[in-house]
Amino acid sequence: MTKKLVIFNWKMNPQTFSEAKGLLSILNTKYLIPNIEYVICPPFIYLSEVLKIKNLKLKIGAQNTFWAAEGAYTGEISSKMLKNLGVEYVIIGHSERRAIGETDEIINKKVLASLNAGLKVILCIGEPSRPKTKNLQPATKTKQYIKTQLQKYLKGIANLSINKLPNSLIIAYEPIWAISSSKNSKQDTPQDAIEMIKFIKQFLTTKYYLPSVKTLYGGSVSSKNITDFINQSEIDGALVGHASADKKEFTKILKILNK
Ligand code: PGA
Repeated sequence: MTKKLVIFNWKMNPQTFSEAKGLLSILNTKYLIPNIEYVICPPFIYLSEVLKIKNLKLKIGAQNTFWAAEGAYTGEISSKMLKNLGVEYVIIGHSERRAIGETDEIINKKVLASLNAGLKVILCIGEPSRPKTKNLQPATKTKQYIKTQLQKYLKGIANLSINKLPNSLIIAYEPIWAISSSKNSKQDTPQDAIEMIKFIKQFLTTKYYLPSVKTLYGGSVSSKNITDFINQSEIDGALVGHASADKKEFTKILKILNK
């Protein structure tokens, strides 16, 4: 059985390194179980310290990267630098970054740069709103939106000489309206997420011959609903945002996954 993947995106939290260490201490406990792979994505400034922690039973990811491999780009951090530091994963295309101006073209360049640098890409996709259909079921229009996103973000991947591509690419289906930072956000249903994830996997298989790309659900995942999503065979794991930066909620999630 392939392991489920649970990714924690702390976003721009916490405000001090000692609080970050507090959150990490929970992760180094008996709660971590071997049949789940955990990835923690702290803010850049905590990465090197987190990597120094011995016996950390989880993988480390960055929340962003830059599209050029090197050069005079003040304030930017390249995928190569992340890889050299020991980072394994990187989140790309998060809707919160798209909201502050990240374009489809930039996302595509970041995907290519990161795969070339040897990082595993967690590519976020998701529609901004759901057309009002009966039972909020994903309509054809939603699927078309997702397909277009994938085509734009993955442009050129067929030309990469990476034979491990299925293992280097992870898709996080995150309907924007379900992300906690969206106004009036509400979580998606597991049934709906299954339908979209099946669609994504089918598209990746037929268009890119990538039949085994892990596809996760993200958007207001918390201790209350995480098992509803990750216990579904079609859903390969979850991307957890704000709940993972709250010590109490974070502990609850890990305890629940440990059961
Ligand atoms: P959320 O965020 O869990 O706070 O909705 C999801 C994410 O950061 O991708």
